[in-house]
Amino acid sequence: MVSLPIHSFIVFLLVLSVADQISAVNEPETEPVPAPWPEQFHAVLLMNKSGSLEIVDLWYDWVNGRNFNIIQKQLGKLSYDLEWNNGTSFYYTLDASKTCRTVHFEVGILRPNWLDGANYLGQRQVNRFLCNVWEKVEFLWYYEDVITNRPVQWIFYTGREAHVMTFEVGAVLEDEKWQAPVYCFHNDEKKSE
Ligand SMILES: *[C@@H]1O[C@H](CO)[C@@H](O)[C@H](O)[C@H]1NC(C)=O
Ligand SMILES: *[C@@H]1O[C@H](CO)[C@@H](O)[C@H](O)[C@H]1NC(C)=O
Repeated sequence: MVSLPIHSFIVFLLVLSVADQISAVNEPETEPVPAPWPEQFHAVLLMNKSGSLEIVDLWYDWVNGRNFNIIQKQLGKLSYDLEWNNGTSFYYTLDASKTCRTVHFEVGILRPNWLDGANYLGQRQVNRFLCNVWEKVEFLWYYEDVITNRPVQWIFYTGREAHVMTFEVGAVLEDEKWQAPVYCFHNDEKKSE
């Protein structure tokens, strides 16, 4: 594999972005669309819900029809939200309390193109990133880095904010980690919704 020095890559990006600006002048404007989600990725999210902070390890795995949120509340509980594309989600802890709640949804996990049809709102500087911003009606605002097309943050209508701290395309969590604990299956409908 040929490896180019990083500066030639940067020059390449600059040429691309200059070309973009020129074409923006000459052609009718087309609104940017959000990049589809990679079929598999790992992200670390900092969540802020009116001052309640959480670190979420998000493992998105469309290929295997599963999505995992491992949620650490600030100085609080570590909990697991394991979602399958057949609509079943397990919410559990792995501590002595052995709690598990099973929820069945009509729809499965988010599709990679779930942002299709979002309304483009323009650009905004978010922290250190210039972002394109879209609104997915009645759901959230989505902010994507203009240069890398990586998500920077999304904000739900409820006010809950997700700030993307890392975004590793192609990262997959080992299969063993996707096993809900046995008490998710032994507890029958009592703890289910
Ligand atoms: C979390 O959000 C609240 C507003 O809801 C804000 O006052 C606070 O500064 C935020 N905290 C962090 C760490 O972003
Ligand atoms: C959905 O898939 C998971 C994982 O294979 C399984 O545990 C769960 O029982 C399935 N739910 C339904 C409704 O089939």
